[in-house]
Amino acid sequence: MDFLDLIQKRQSDRKYTGRPVEKEKIERCLEAARLAPSASNSQPWTFVVVDEPGLKAKVAAKTIGPLKTFNNFVPQAPVIVAMVMEKPKVITEVGGRIKKKEYPLMDIGIAAEHFCLQATEEGLGTCMLGWFDERAVKSLLNVPEKKTIPLLITLGYTPEDYKHRKKIRKPFEKAVKWNSY
Ligand SMILES: Cc1cc2nc3c(=O)[nH]c(=O)nc-3n(C[C@H](O)[C@H](O)[C@H](O)COP(=O)(O)O)c2cc1C
Repeated sequence: MDFLDLIQKRQSDRKYTGRPVEKEKIERCLEAARLAPSASNSQPWTFVVVDEPGLKAKVAAKTIGPLKTFNNFVPQAPVIVAMVMEKPKVITEVGGRIKKKEYPLMDIGIAAEHFCLQATEEGLGTCMLGWFDERAVKSLLNVPEKKTIPLLITLGYTPEDYKHRKKIRKPFEKAVKWNSY
């Protein structure tokens, strides 16, 4: 598959079948995330895979929005991965403070997209989740209180007839400027 085709194919999948995901596939997605670049190669992440059904259901329940308005689909996903943010190298932390940049957050985002693109390549669906009760999820997964979980990612097979949506994005000319803002 052409790389841009793969990017077009990845979408936020909000419907999953009960089909279990092969461990090798999950591991290849994690490997893609592990190989992501990061500021000063700090690799400020730990990926916690949640596939034990009882625990996964509890985590999923903590992602659902008020009045069940969104993230209702999360319990269907057979796997949820928590992207735990770790402290970066001292040089990255100092650099980030001087330059007012949140390098570890950028790093987590890149790793998350690596994960999702590999999942697409494997024929799996994903959805990044930024809305969840972080304190509750940390407690369920035994993540120390002072660490953060910027993102969760759902992973699973989508139904055969699940629609591939056309991407809604700013027009190219609006998003891209050459040489001057
Ligand atoms: C940081 C981040 C947080 C997100 N949080 C959620 C979420 O909590 N629930 C959800 O359904 N989608 C979530 N999304 C998915 C976005 O809504 C989606 O990426 C965007 O609408 C573009 O659609 P596409 O991913 O299908 O191309 C999140 C995406 C990102 C990058």
